[in-house]
Amino acid sequence: MTSNSILFQPFDLPNGAQLSNRLAIAPMTTFSSHSNGTVSDQEIAYYKRRAGLAGLFISACIAISPTGLAFDHQFIAYDPAAILPRD
Ligand SMILES: Cc1cc2nc3c(=O)[nH]c(=O)nc-3n(C[C@H](O)[C@H](O)[C@H](O)COP(=O)(O)O)c2cc1C
Repeated sequence: MTSNSILFQPFDLPNGAQLSNRLAIAPMTTFSSHSNGTVSDQEIAYYKRRAGLAGLFISACIAISPTGLAFDHQFIAYDPAAILPRD
């Protein structure tokens, strides 16, 4: 595969966002939130190891309400404190 392959060309999404290339990382369940659903250092390391590879990174399932919780160590997004940027 050459660097000028279409895979490495930008791609415009309908919402106006532009992906830097056409590679996507598929969602993978890491079971690595803290027990309260907040993001762990382990999960951040998971993303950092793969950062820069693909234009799109699809996260695994993240509960948007308490009724959406499906398993232990699942990430949550229904509590703003769980999704605030970290240092
Ligand atoms: C929320 C979510 C979590 C997933 N977690 C995993 C996982 O932990 N392990 C895995 O092999 N596939 C997981 N998948 C499926 C993969 O992302 C991928 O779709 C699957 O391996 C099929 O890939 P393929 O279409 O290239 O064959 C998950 C999919 C979703 C939607």
